[in-house]
Amino acid sequence: MNVFSGIELRGLGLKNRIVMSPMCMYSAEDGFVNDFHIAHYGSRAMGGTGLIFTEATAISPEGVISKQDLGIYKDEHIDGLKRIVDICHRFGAKIGIQLAHAGRKAFGGRPWDKFDKFGYDELDIIAPNPIPFAEHWKTPKEMTREDIKSLVEKYINATKRALKAGFDTIEIHAAHGYLLNEFLSSITNKRQDEYGGEFKNRIRLLLEITEAIRSIIPDNMPLFVRISVVDHVEGGWNLKDSIELAKILKTKGADIIDCSSGGIALGAPPSDYYRAHQIKFSEAIRKEANIKTIAIGGITSFDMANEIIKNERADLVAIARMFLNDPYLPIRWAKSRGVDIEVPVQYRLGYYLDI
Ligand SMILES: Cc1cc2nc3c(=O)[nH]c(=O)nc-3n(C[C@H](O)[C@H](O)[C@H](O)COP(=O)(O)O)c2cc1C
Repeated sequence: MNVFSGIELRGLGLKNRIVMSPMCMYSAEDGFVNDFHIAHYGSRAMGGTGLIFTEATAISPEGVISKQDLGIYKDEHIDGLKRIVDICHRFGAKIGIQLAHAGRKAFGGRPWDKFDKFGYDELDIIAPNPIPFAEHWKTPKEMTREDIKSLVEKYINATKRALKAGFDTIEIHAAHGYLLNEFLSSITNKRQDEYGGEFKNRIRLLLEITEAIRSIIPDNMPLFVRISVVDHVEGGWNLKDSIELAKILKTKGADIIDCSSGGIALGAPPSDYYRAHQIKFSEAIRKEANIKTIAIGGITSFDMANEIIKNERADLVAIARMFLNDPYLPIRWAKSRGVDIEVPVQYRLGYYLDI
């Protein structure tokens, strides 16, 4: 078994284990897909990727990471999203959508924007409690029970739209300090009701959303959940919590845990950051919770990716930044190792020419 071995996830067959990790492209207006997105996702499909995830796609207008995020909060978004699905299918990749709500980190802006203040927009932002992410960030509104109910509805509506657009799978974004992560972590969740306090209360919202989504997607469609396996903050969410959560998520119909980390607080980057430092999380969750996992973060070579798959430290490997500098990464890795994978006929001369 190696990175180019196929895999079946429920009823979804992937031609290899290489996943393009969700990456905000900060290029939409009012959530709508445009030509940039078609070229961007289409070329990664042409490049031989097994499974592509869209960037964080907002389920609600106040839930955007930047004002330029893709959205799935109105029916009018479906046609554009379907264009992404169609081009990925046309070039042999499967395509999933990452459903997201940025919580108190909404309207943080694009990495290349220079703001003095963050989170400010005409819309209120929401979170478990009215605690801003950091200095110069807007104070969110504390979510009421009604807000929580309506949030679950929004996830349901977004999922229905994703099904109409033809996506092969869905990933719930519950990582990186965004809304669902804010409920999970005691660093950000100070609620006194049944959605806060002890572990079983903090995981309640994510479980409700997972169950709601599983109840409307087809039985043969896998469901991914991305979590920050650890907060990297003293006293925060930890690996033990994640293992426990993964076991419960499995009973609620989640199939694969996408194992990232961090993002809950400013100034709390991964304390032990080094290349591929999150692989140990994927490995532990896979083993301890007996669930499929994705390894992500700093995977920069075929050998690294292959080692992870061969030694069963994850079922899939996700790559983000390497895909920004090379949409054809899977083909390049395969060719460098003599693995026979399909190359678009128009490009074959380029790959077989001995130069
Ligand atoms: C430009 C950019 C945008 C990102 N946007 C998202 C996102 O929308 N959702 C998400 O879960 N992670 C996002 N990430 C994190 C990546 O998916 C990935 O976890 C991280 O970059 C580590 O993988 P890498 O070392 O292969 O880049 C983003 C990363 C980058 C570089």
